[in-house]
Amino acid sequence: MMDIIQKIPVATICLITMICVGPSICDGSLNSRPIIGVLAQSSDPKSQPYYGDTYIPSAYVKWLESGGARVVPIRVRESGEYYEKLFKSINGVVFPGGDVNIVTSYFAKAAKILYNMALRANDAGDYFPLWGTCQGFQQLTVLTAGKDLLSALHAHRMMALNLTHNFGQSRLFADLPKYILTSLISYNVTANHHNYGLSPTTFSQNQALRTFYRFMSTNVADNGKEFISTFEAIKYPFYGVQWHPEKVPYDWDLNDALTHTRRGVKVTQYFADFFVEECRKSGHHFPNITAEISTLINNYQPHFTTDTRFQERYFFNFTQPHF
Ligand SMILES: *[C@@H]1O[C@H](CO)[C@@H](O)[C@H](O)[C@H]1NC(C)=O
Ligand SMILES: *[C@@H]1O[C@H](CO)[C@@H](O)[C@H](O)[C@H]1NC(C)=O
Ligand SMILES: *[C@@H]1O[C@H](CO)[C@@H](O)[C@H](O)[C@H]1NC(C)=O
Ligand SMILES: *[C@@H]1O[C@H](CO)[C@@H](O)[C@H](O)[C@H]1NC(C)=O
Repeated sequence: MMDIIQKIPVATICLITMICVGPSICDGSLNSRPIIGVLAQSSDPKSQPYYGDTYIPSAYVKWLESGGARVVPIRVRESGEYYEKLFKSINGVVFPGGDVNIVTSYFAKAAKILYNMALRANDAGDYFPLWGTCQGFQQLTVLTAGKDLLSALHAHRMMALNLTHNFGQSRLFADLPKYILTSLISYNVTANHHNYGLSPTTFSQNQALRTFYRFMSTNVADNGKEFISTFEAIKYPFYGVQWHPEKVPYDWDLNDALTHTRRGVKVTQYFADFFVEECRKSGHHFPNITAEISTLINNYQPHFTTDTRFQERYFFNFTQPHF
C-alpha cells in the first residue's frame, strides 16, 4: 500500500512530461536525431546526364546535414501505404526545385499526398514541418490554392531580398541575427533560377493563399514582374522560398552567376539551422535501426556531373517515373 502511494508523485511527473512532449515548448523533449525526407524529382530521359529515373541534387542533402539532420530520399509514383509508412518515420519533408509539371507530374502527386498528411498531422497536434524551395515553393502555392496561379517571368541571378514591413512578425525571420539580416537585405545572397513566380497581387486576391500564408519578402524579376520570394504558413510549420538557400556553399554551376561569399554561406546556414530545429520538434521515428539505416540517402552514391544546373546529384532507379 505504502509503495503505491509513494509512486503517485512519480506518475504525476511523468504525466506532466508527456504533456510537454510535442511542439516547441520544452527543449528537453526535442528530437536530437532528426531525419528529413527530400522528395525526388523525375529525370528527363532525353536530357543528359541520365543516370536514373529520379534525382536529388546533393546540395539539399548537404544543406540539411549542415543543420544536423540526416536525409532519406522520398520516391514518387508510389502507393499510399509507402507514403503513410515513411511519413511516420521522418521528421520533416523538403520539396526541392526542378522543372516538372506542377499539377500532373508524379512529383506534384506525391507532394499532394505528403502535404495532406502534414496538414492532418499538425491538426492533430503532431508537429510536422514542410519546406519548399523554388519549384517546391511553387508546389506549396498550388497545393494550398488548389490551382496553378503562377505567372511566367525570368529570374536567374543572385539578389537581395525586399522585406515586407512586418517581416519580423514571422517565425522564420523573427530572430534573424543582425549580420544575416544585413546580408539578406543589402547583399546578393539569394540565388534565383526560375521562370515562374507568384505575384503579391495574385496572392492577395486569393482567399486560400492569403489566409494560409504570410509573405516576408518579394523580388523583382528581370522582366519587371514582382514575385513573392519567402513565405511561411501562419498556423503550420510550413516554409517556402522561391530562391535557393542550399546553393551558395554547395553548388558550382558553370553557367550561372552563383557567388560564394561568406555572407551567402552564413545565410545558407541560418536557414538550415532554422528548418532542422523545426524538425527536431517531430517525434516520428523508424520502427527500428535496421529500417532507418537502410532507408538513408547514404546508401546511394552521388554523381559528379558537368551539367549546367547542378554540380552533384544523387540518381535513383526507383519506379521508372517518366514525369
Ligand atoms: C539506372 O539504370 C540505368 C539504365 O539501366 C543505368 O545506366 C544507371 O546506372 C542506373 N542508375 C543507378 C543509380 O543505379
Ligand atoms: C547585386 O546585383 C545587382 C545586379 O543584379 C548589382 O547591380 C548590385 O550592385 C549588386 N549588389 C551588391 C551589393 O553586390
Ligand atoms: C526591390 O523593390 C524595388 C522596388 O519595387 C525594385 O526596384 C527592386 O528591383 C527590388 N529588388 C530586388 C533585388 O528584387
Ligand atoms: C524493422 O522494421 C521493418 C519495417 O517495419 C520490419 O520489416 C523488420 O522486420 C524490422 N526488423 C527488426 C529487426 O525488428
